[in-house]
Formats: sequence, structure tokens, C-alpha cells
Amino acid sequence: MRSVIAGCGGYLPARCLSNAALAAEYGLDTSDDWIVERTGIRQRHIAAPGETASSMGTAAARQALERAGIAAEAVDAVIVATSTPDSAFPATAVRIQQQLGITRGFGFDLAAACTGFVYALGMADSLMRTGQARCVLVIGTEIFSRILDWSDRGTCVLFGDGAGAVVLTAEQDSDRGILSTHLHSDGRHGDILLVEGGPGSTGGSGLLRMAGKEVFRHAVSKLAGVVDEALAANGMGHADLRWLVPHQANLRIIEAMGKKLGLPRERVVVTVDRHANTSAASIPLALAEAAGRGLIERGDTVVLEAIGGGLTWGAALLRF
Ligand code: ACO
Repeated sequence: MRSVIAGCGGYLPARCLSNAALAAEYGLDTSDDWIVERTGIRQRHIAAPGETASSMGTAAARQALERAGIAAEAVDAVIVATSTPDSAFPATAVRIQQQLGITRGFGFDLAAACTGFVYALGMADSLMRTGQARCVLVIGTEIFSRILDWSDRGTCVLFGDGAGAVVLTAEQDSDRGILSTHLHSDGRHGDILLVEGGPGSTGGSGLLRMAGKEVFRHAVSKLAGVVDEALAANGMGHADLRWLVPHQANLRIIEAMGKKLGLPRERVVVTVDRHANTSAASIPLALAEAAGRGLIERGDTVVLEAIGGGLTWGAALLRF
């Protein structure tokens, strides 16, 4: 049995802010040149006051279902990766179930920061392989604009809002689908990227803090290690890869990974320039864009990778 991606979808809020517009709006001492040179980011989308992780996730899920030609009633499970849920509970996944009109099956959220979508794919694949579900919606949805310190130029320029989704279906004897997922976490590095406080905390600002240089230092070695782990588990090497769809945090990290894997630039999907870092939403948004434009084709071997707060990191290898 294989978990095959039957459709991908994405959603970005209508409001789009360039680096210059962001700096002007929040009175930041920064420049377009600084941001582009260090990160590759040129603009980001920011949610409207009435939007939430569930409303954006629902929009992305609708597009994924439509592209897959699958009715919402066929969905057995909804898994949402998010660090910015509408509320502690009900889970954002259950809210999305309701917004899609699904009254059967089950839904739950998982928190693995920017690696959340890769974790969610791993959980969905396990549910499918053990026969607990035959059709799973996997969604990454984030509204980081609500957890940013808009006076901290070191972090607020890096993130954007949005959602991405894939619908997975169980297929017997298929050579397509998720080949394997590889998940890691190490709490010793928890303090280099975190949100201070939360519903069960005794205090804290509720805002994101990051030691950017420290995160950067871990990124390429951990990501390269986990991609090689995924390839080795499937008896493959770099030459077998057709596409890299990385978490979109920083163009320098993305380009370094493409180089390590020996992939030409045009086989590395990049959206960070237009979306900035949308955390758990960045990979499914990038997938939806690349598949929607007909770049990634049926049968292509694709690796997804991400690193985020925790630290968490992981990779998924799949045949599209
Ligand atoms: N504009 C102008 N100057 C700035 C800005 C800004 N927006 N932000 C920071 N600076 C200044 C700093 O104040 C510092 O000035 P100082 O030397 O006078 O103290 C100087 O620039 C250098 O700051 P650093 O933080 O050391 O800059 P660095 O070169 O490390 O770049 C960056 C920062 C872009 C955040 C980089 O470290 C990075 O990309 N790290 C990885 C982050 C990442 O990948 N996160 C993804 C995983 S986490 C997740 O997705 C949730």
C-alpha cells in the first residue's frame, strides 16, 4: 500500500507587503537590500483581521480536494500542522473538518514548528499503512503575523502567513506515493527558536524569539544528513532525485542544500522570495505552486525537508 498525493492546494492572504512597505509600516530600521541579501525574501502575505489558521487551511484544503477530484465526504482524517492554532482546543483540524462539512472520521493538530508538515505526512502515511484511513487531508497553516514582535527587525521581516494542503489516497501496488519519512527532534536546542509562553505557561510574551545565527549553524548539516538518511533507506543516491521541495526559510540555506544534492537551480522549488517563511505551510504551498504550474510531474522523485523550533527536523521521500 502506498499513500499517493492525489492533489495539492494553497492559500495566501490577499494583502501582500514588500520589504519597503513593511519597514515603513512598522518603522523598522532595515532595508530591502539587507533583507534580500541575507534571506532572499522580497515580500510576504499578511492575514486580514478576520482570517485564522482554520479559515486559511480550509481554503487550501478545498483547492487540494478540487484538484484531486475528491469530495470532502471521502476524507477519513484531517491532520493539521500548526504553531498558530485558532485556539488551544477544539483542534484547528476539527474546525477545518466542520468548515468542509465533514462529520465522520477524525482530525487532530500536531506541533513541530516549521517541520510540522513533514511530521504530519509521516503520521498520515502511518495511518494509511495500518489501514486506519484511506484518504487523509494533510494541512500546514500558519498565521505567524500574530506571534511576531513587530519591533524586532531580526525576526519580523522573515515570516509570512498562508496555508498549504495535500490530499493523500491509499493505492495498492502503486509505484507512486510516499516512500519513507524520517523525523528527528532534539530539545537541547529548544531555546534558540521558540515562542515565549502559551496557553499552559506561567508567563511569557507569546512572541517568537530566534537566535538566527545559531539556527543557521544547525540547518544545512542536519538537513543534508536527514535527506541522505531518506535516500539510503530507499537504496537511492543524489542522482536519483528529480526535485527538492525544501522548507522556505532562507534562500542561502535552500541554495546550499541544492548544491549539496547536486541539483541544478531549476530543480529546486523556491517560493521564499514571494511568501517569506510560512513555517509549516511553506512546503505544501511550494508543492501546490510547482504542481499547479506543471513543473513537478507524475512519477518524479521528490524530497521534502525542513528544520524548525524544537529543534525538529525531517525529510520525506516520495514519487509524485
Ligand atoms: N535589517 C537590518 N539589520 C538587521 C536586521 C534587519 N532586518 N536584522 C538584524 N540586523 C542586524 C543585527 O542587529 C546585527 O547588527 P549588529 O551587528 O549591529 O548587532 C546584524 O544585522 C547581524 O545580525 P545577525 O542576526 O547576526 O545576522 P545574520 O547574518 O545571522 O542574518 C538571519 C540573520 C537572516 C536571520 C540569519 O541568521 C538566518 O537566516 N538564520 C536562519 C533562520 C532560519 O533558517 N530559520 C528557519 C528555521 S526556523 C523557522 O522556520 C521557524
